[in-house]
Amino acid sequence: MAYIVVATSNAHKVEEYEKLLEGQKVELKSLLDFPNFPGVEEDGATFRENAAKKALAACKYCDVPAFADDSGLEVEALDGRPGIYSSRYAPTDAERIAKLLGELEGVENRRARFVCAIAIAVNGEVIETFEGEVKGRIIDAPRGVDGFGYDPVFQPDGYEETFGEMAQELKNKISHRAVAFKLALNFVEDEMSVLDDDFDL
Ligand code: IMP
Repeated sequence: MAYIVVATSNAHKVEEYEKLLEGQKVELKSLLDFPNFPGVEEDGATFRENAAKKALAACKYCDVPAFADDSGLEVEALDGRPGIYSSRYAPTDAERIAKLLGELEGVENRRARFVCAIAIAVNGEVIETFEGEVKGRIIDAPRGVDGFGYDPVFQPDGYEETFGEMAQELKNKISHRAVAFKLALNFVEDEMSVLDDDFDL
């Protein structure tokens, strides 16, 4: 079967993408299958730039079509922080959440959004990037243990549950990653034959 590499070693993201790709005629591999991948410095100024850099590096290293995402949380009252620094905001998920809630203590405006940029690289070139978002608010104390990252404090608009309480199937329908991924998949299906069997192992 043809395969495509997602340029991440985050097992949670791999699992989300596997679900999103269910039913497609392509097998997903990740950097967990390429443990010697040297890594990429995420020094871009935007989600799109970082995604493009990661997709290109994985495409060149693995010698197959690759895609990468860069995602994060933008909080209105913090002028968009932590943004592209979401994973580096503090050392662990628990500390990131604690720091965020600390910064927002007494702040009335809880508006926030998750953003995800996805870049696709084929034959050593980035061919397209896409962006998805999901809007919501930061609640006062974590709820739920599912998902990862800031999920327990993010309540998407129109839902009572946080992403940390939500069934994965539902999160996978409405998340920033799902929105960006659908755009990418439509593009691949409509415009490209990049997932043809030429890329068989
Ligand atoms: P990335 O791996 O460079 O894209 O880092 C994204 C960071 O943003 C993650 O480490 C999380 O802290 C946060 N993040 C991105 N997407 C999500 C999500 O779906 N739920 C919770 N946190 C997320």
